[in-house]
Amino acid sequence: MFVKISKSLMCIFLGFFFVVAFAENTLPQEVSVEFPEELLMVEFDKYILPRFKFKTQISLLANKENGAFDAKLGILPGGKAVFSDLNGFVYRLQTKTSDAGKMSKLEKFVSWFNSPSGIMTVEDFSIQGVQAFKAVEYVEEKEDAEIFDGNIASGLGLSQKHCKRCHVVDDNAFAGIDSTPSFHAMRTFDDWQERFTAFWTVSPHLNVISITEVYEAGSNSVPTTIAPIELSLDQIDDILAYVASVKPKDLGKPINSW
Ligand code: HEC
Repeated sequence: MFVKISKSLMCIFLGFFFVVAFAENTLPQEVSVEFPEELLMVEFDKYILPRFKFKTQISLLANKENGAFDAKLGILPGGKAVFSDLNGFVYRLQTKTSDAGKMSKLEKFVSWFNSPSGIMTVEDFSIQGVQAFKAVEYVEEKEDAEIFDGNIASGLGLSQKHCKRCHVVDDNAFAGIDSTPSFHAMRTFDDWQERFTAFWTVSPHLNVISITEVYEAGSNSVPTTIAPIELSLDQIDDILAYVASVKPKDLGKPINSW
């Protein structure tokens, strides 16, 4: 009798234990971000995190009882730029965790800062009626313009002359061929710079475009309707400078708008 009771007690106990353990494993994981003192002081965490959650249903925590934070926000030497203060100091988010689920939430946090909703939220935040931060997009555009020493106007001209018959290259969304990606869409790729440096090595350009110093397009396979394009390396620099100035496509817009 006694043995029986203790056995069933044991079962109940074990069952309880498993339920608790299971629930803990399946609870949504909390992702924590360490905010720097100056942002906590103005309660920027309390302003930004609920708005991010409202937009994405992802909740991030700025405070933590114990243990390490999953990411750190601040004026840091590394990490992804998210916004800047009015003096141009860039705040970055550095990921500490190596948990894939948490990392993807943090990535969404970073890309939200570059979305219209994130930009508006950051720029609406004010301290005693004065705007305190600006979106980082503007800061980066300035940096980009400095890196590329090609000539933007010449790059635009070259793109319109040589690339426009297939790609949308400027504000004329009706140019180009439907199936060919627009410059604005390609500008959103992280590695757009590499692609625009090496595009002539990629089909279908291979058959059409020659780079004066380096490579001559295989002329036998060029359809007669396509006039061969000849560019110099300097001209490629100009195109790069122009593309750096192109506003990346807003991925929130419908697919078929550039
Ligand atoms: C004959 C039509 C045509 C012309 C002219 C053309 N492109 Fe393209 N381009 C394409 C197509 C089609 C693709 C997509 C290829 C793919 O997705 O496989 C492409 C892709 C690209 C890519 C992405 C390459 C990659 O790595 O994915 C870049 C960058 C690019 N083009 C730049 C240019 C530039 C700059 C010019 C003008 C100097 C130009 N293209 C002229 C048809 C063209």
